[in-house]
Amino acid sequence: MTMGIDIGSSFVKVAIYDLETGECRANSQAPESEMPIISIKPGWAEQSPEMWWTNTKDAIGQAINKIGTSATAIGAIGITYQMHGLVCIDKNGNALGNSIIWCDSRAVETGNQLARQLGKEYCHEHLLNFPGNFTASKLQWVMDHEPELFEKIHHVMLPGDYIGYRLTGEINTTIGGLSEGIFWDFQEDRVSEKLLRASGISEELLPNIVPTFGEQGRLMPAIASELGLTSGIPISYRAGDQPNNAFSLNVLNPGEVAATAGTSGVVYGVTDRLISDPLSRINTFAHVNHTQKTPRYGVLLCINGTGILNAWLRKNVANGADYSRMNEDAAKTPAGSEGLMILPFGNGAERMLQNRETGCQIIGLNFNRHGQAHLYRAGLEGLAFAFRYGIEVMKDAGLNPVAIRAGNANMFLSPLFRQTLADVCNVTIDIYSANGSIGAALGAAVGTGFYAGIREASTKIKKVMVIEASSQRELMEEYYWRWKNHLISMLAEMEITIIN
Ligand code: XUL
Repeated sequence: MTMGIDIGSSFVKVAIYDLETGECRANSQAPESEMPIISIKPGWAEQSPEMWWTNTKDAIGQAINKIGTSATAIGAIGITYQMHGLVCIDKNGNALGNSIIWCDSRAVETGNQLARQLGKEYCHEHLLNFPGNFTASKLQWVMDHEPELFEKIHHVMLPGDYIGYRLTGEINTTIGGLSEGIFWDFQEDRVSEKLLRASGISEELLPNIVPTFGEQGRLMPAIASELGLTSGIPISYRAGDQPNNAFSLNVLNPGEVAATAGTSGVVYGVTDRLISDPLSRINTFAHVNHTQKTPRYGVLLCINGTGILNAWLRKNVANGADYSRMNEDAAKTPAGSEGLMILPFGNGAERMLQNRETGCQIIGLNFNRHGQAHLYRAGLEGLAFAFRYGIEVMKDAGLNPVAIRAGNANMFLSPLFRQTLADVCNVTIDIYSANGSIGAALGAAVGTGFYAGIREASTKIKKVMVIEASSQRELMEEYYWRWKNHLISMLAEMEITIIN
């Protein structure tokens, strides 16, 4: 058996996967409701690494309780995590304050400045991205704005690296991890010396590189006995949540496309071509199977405000009702939400809108016609519309997603959301019995050599549903244009490039 740990923005999830039977023996998550994202200033978003660790231990404890004494048969651990965050530790290995997480926008200007220093050409050809507000820019922001804290930094890590470190005591990361932080020079196949020089960041702060699949460290005895696991078992896989989702859905080769709709929503296409968007609305990172000889790039379109909009509605409008109840209510409301529309961009700088923070907008609210259920439906529709707009951005950059694979998780659990998405985007959506933590458990098995290769592992996950565009498609197309016209006016006002 292997264990997968998924450090999300909302929950830490754990799966225990039985390699012999291909069954998931346990699934668990902690805490009970979404982890907080701390925002002490507009555009800032932080989480405590200690909170991730506590929830990791809780979720592992719950999963182990479900399988009892057979926990000793767990032979390896895989980790997947929310990407692009910055965790800093001091010389004693303690986290220095909160992590600046993926949707924090404070480093946008720092990243723009870095891009000017490096030059467009270098960014496109070597880094495949502008530094944006990814990890390297966040670190430089700390250097510029919090020099005292910066002085104390011994190492920096991504959220998944930090949990790996708490389990093994080893400070390491992967090439994929360095690429998602915009530290990786794809031409030179090493950490970008030019970026380090331009930013003044010392290479010594970066963790050592370990393979994505393969031994990354071994579970420390004290932690093993605290968790009820066998001491010395390897951590044998680590990947960001988006490449991990693609891996679990057997999206490994050019033309294959995966999607997620968790806190953020993502469309992720694999290609072997260097794709770099001059407007940086999509990003290119190393996929789990990338090598310099056989390049596999993950081209990623992210909508920061996806499940977090639904969570906001649940907390602030639905009074904490179940998501399934909200979905049922939304389904009783007519398509188009009787004119109510939501632009869901309320979670920091949106990359597909050129790293601008537009905020969420609720449009056309009529006090005599609209109630809670309209808001839930307009939320789901607004998300599907944002995905469609994102797919148009991808097409503009040279990719054409027509069939999308997704795990049976998060918002894809909502029948109304997945059908609306298929209709609005005119795509077929294949749903698989996967989630992030199962993907990580499979990755761990690849890392120990259990499977003949990466593809063999990812074919273990079964397709459970196919969603085709329905007869509602034309109607939804109309509603999409109504929504898009509002988006266009907003973008024009903010001088953001528009895709027609
Ligand atoms: C992907 C991204 C988000 C986070 C959220 O580039 O920023 O999907 O990984 O978990």
